[in-house]
Amino acid sequence: MTDIKELLLSRIRDVADYPEPGVMFKDITPLLADPAAFTALTDALAEIAGRSRATKVVGLEARGFILGAPVAVRAGLGFVPVRKAGKLPGATLRQSYDLEYGSAEIEVHAEDLSAGDRVLVVDDVLATGGTAEASLTLIRRAGAQVAGVAVLMELGFLGGRARLEPALGGASLEALLTV
Ligand code: PRP
Ligand code: MG
Repeated sequence: MTDIKELLLSRIRDVADYPEPGVMFKDITPLLADPAAFTALTDALAEIAGRSRATKVVGLEARGFILGAPVAVRAGLGFVPVRKAGKLPGATLRQSYDLEYGSAEIEVHAEDLSAGDRVLVVDDVLATGGTAEASLTLIRRAGAQVAGVAVLMELGFLGGRARLEPALGGASLEALLTV
């Protein structure tokens, strides 16, 4: 394992039985609190933004905001929040997606993305892939192109990569860690 992967992994805390019994929660707050680790993470994701020729970074509420905003600044790109429904004041596009139990909705300000944009989606975790998949649908509905999806970690056992594959349309999904 490379030094950066070891550093990032060492700052992610496993919390058993949270938020419910049987779930192992991946807590990134120790990583955020360590400036060397947070900087290394930001630099690695910003490198992906540059390599994928992104023009905008979309962060997925809430943890994707924490990671995506500094990536946008570091890469010299604009940041666009994809929010849980009902939080954005302007004209939005809304997309629903299925959860294990029930469904959820996310929104983006339509005017923040345009036909010339190539968008990198940044989030902390790819689990089932449902949130990321819905964000790619929103980006395309806004008329923009998908440059890729970049996450700190992919939970490989949940099959999110396979679910996301058709929605990527040839763009890449990059996970710094697979757990
Ligand atoms: C978590 C995580 C990802 C998403 C991954 O967000 O931060 O955004 O779930 O799950 P999926 O791949 O199965 O869609 P969540 O909305 O639970 O919490 P947050 O608001 O703290 O980011
Ligand atoms: Mg999230």
